[in-house]
Amino acid sequence: MHDNENVLVIGSGGREHALGWKISQNEHIQKIFYANGNGGTNNNLPILPTEFEKLIDFAKDNNCFTVVGPELPLSLGIVDIFESNSLKIFGPTKLASEIETSKEFSKNFMTKFAIPTSEYKVFTDASKAEEFIEKIDFNVVVKADGLAAGKGVFVTNSKSEAINTIDLLLKKKIFGKACEKIIVEKRIVGNEASIIAICDGNSFKLLDPCRDYKRAFDNDLGPNTGGMGSHSPVSDITENEIEFIVDKVFNPAIKGMNSEGRPFKGFLYAGLMIEKHTGKPYVLEFNARMGDPECQPLMMRMESDLLQYLEAGVNQSLDDVKPIEWKKKFSTCVIMTSKGYPDKYETGYAIKGITNLFDPDLMIFHSGTKRTNDDELVTSGGRVLGITSLGESLDDSINKAYQTVNNISWGDCQQQFRKDIGKNVT
Ligand code: GLY
Repeated sequence: MHDNENVLVIGSGGREHALGWKISQNEHIQKIFYANGNGGTNNNLPILPTEFEKLIDFAKDNNCFTVVGPELPLSLGIVDIFESNSLKIFGPTKLASEIETSKEFSKNFMTKFAIPTSEYKVFTDASKAEEFIEKIDFNVVVKADGLAAGKGVFVTNSKSEAINTIDLLLKKKIFGKACEKIIVEKRIVGNEASIIAICDGNSFKLLDPCRDYKRAFDNDLGPNTGGMGSHSPVSDITENEIEFIVDKVFNPAIKGMNSEGRPFKGFLYAGLMIEKHTGKPYVLEFNARMGDPECQPLMMRMESDLLQYLEAGVNQSLDDVKPIEWKKKFSTCVIMTSKGYPDKYETGYAIKGITNLFDPDLMIFHSGTKRTNDDELVTSGGRVLGITSLGESLDDSINKAYQTVNNISWGDCQQQFRKDIGKNVT
């Protein structure tokens, strides 16, 4: 980073707040801008993540290094267009992003490069998919092929649930074009983990393991959400499992994407299930971006300067940078949402009780918040805040996060959160 450079963070969630917060610790940075940010971020631009022409003009005029948070601009080729304008941007190209944006590409890719994933079939015809379900003797996960705002994965418990889901996707087309094709895969039971790497196309640096709680309600009940909380590290993942994941997941993925003519630069996120009775890790999905809310505890725990790795990712020089150092502490993030999320919810409530901002072991990362013309902080989305703590033990960090959560409210009990983040719920 040269002394007069700025950073532009694309996105408006807790992930982007946490990335910007961590990047801001680099002493050479002048300013961090967000497009379009939220009520917790400063220097918010009135430019959406998909308004590429405006973003390019801004990045050129302000000498910005750009970091992309969400999948939508990646899927639309933000990296390709920035690079063709000679702008530095950390994230995968449109073709490389297909590892997330097409589940069919992703599953075929894993099979081709022997990356462990559960057996699957792709369908466009509902009756063929239903015939398949009638014949098998295991439960399945049904996935929309394309992007469905984090709602396109259905874990089913019976044949009738699977058939209803197929109906919703292939007949009712609840996600439009994104579910013209579906993937039906064998359900693996075990502990989930999110393992994310910073990649430069040839090489990568692995981040510490993280666990995300995707279901809306305690004890892993209710619908899937974008994520209701997370913690890092994950003590039930062993060194051997990490070695296996490097060897059998990330090495072949990086080599494979290269040999497919889609070198992967950016955050590569492997959503894994460590099977209960075999201990074997399976890749449930790849994402072409940092996780949210995995980002929040990871940024709290990262000791090293993040920006040097993102720059090395862009310059293809990750092999020249030291391994990432982590605080020997535990971090937990509890997501506070609007009541009703992930279904219908109301916004516009004034948020009360945000304190402790000067505690270095506590950060409140914002997602669905905004500031009114009177500078009042109000709710503006489903996921509202990510209360993220550091502690000497996982329990310490859990307690610290919930002490803060319990002091924050909006409306007349309009806030909602899980009470078991950090606990083992499998
Ligand atoms: N927390 C899940 C995701 O970012 O996809």
